[in-house]
Amino acid sequence: MLIAPSILSADFGNLQKEIESICEAGCDLVHIDVMDGHFVPNLTIGPVVVESVSRVSSKPLDIHLMVENNNFFVDLFAPLKPKYLSFHLESEKHPHRLIQKIRSLGISPAITLNPHTKVEDIEYLLQDLDMVLLMSVNPGFGGQRFIPTILEKAKKLKELISERNPSCLIEVDGGVSDKNIKYLKDAGVDIVVAGSYVFGNEDYKKAIDSLRV
Ligand code: DX5
Ligand code: ZN
Repeated sequence: MLIAPSILSADFGNLQKEIESICEAGCDLVHIDVMDGHFVPNLTIGPVVVESVSRVSSKPLDIHLMVENNNFFVDLFAPLKPKYLSFHLESEKHPHRLIQKIRSLGISPAITLNPHTKVEDIEYLLQDLDMVLLMSVNPGFGGQRFIPTILEKAKKLKELISERNPSCLIEVDGGVSDKNIKYLKDAGVDIVVAGSYVFGNEDYKKAIDSLRV
């Protein structure tokens, strides 16, 4: 299991130290939540702060866009060369076109599904994706309760992926902790995002290691 701590739960007054600590604690990716106040009822950070994060991070960035105007935000964040750039299917009229654009910029394209969105809706996009991000909470805030139906959804997605593009990874985001990690592993999940669970723990390494199933 790969671990991507979400910096949404970090102490933004000590961001450099927080990023260095999770990297030293052995995380695999640094998950960045970008919210526009329209697609979700919250606002977070833009490219100025994320550029500073990328300078102090020894791990690749995993940028999760929760925005209405995906094209605009892809142009803003692509120069920072994240490993993954994911956008929500629910806010994009032309997902295939945007996937091609992200790949042409040298970034791994990923698509995110809200808890209610069917995995079948992306069946014909899977061959062009490097990762699918399944939301296990309603996007917008850290510290929410894990929605267990995501486990069934991940299993269905795993089947579609094995038919269409076995190298595509499954990431789950929201309410992940040591209480559900085993079920996520069994459902075929490859990467978990964990915000409040990692940053809410005194010992980041211990928290990350407890998710390494
Ligand atoms: C929610 C964000 C998540 C959030 C996860 O919209 O996409 O990445 O930070 O936080 P936890 O792990 O606390 O649910
Ligand atoms: Zn996220």
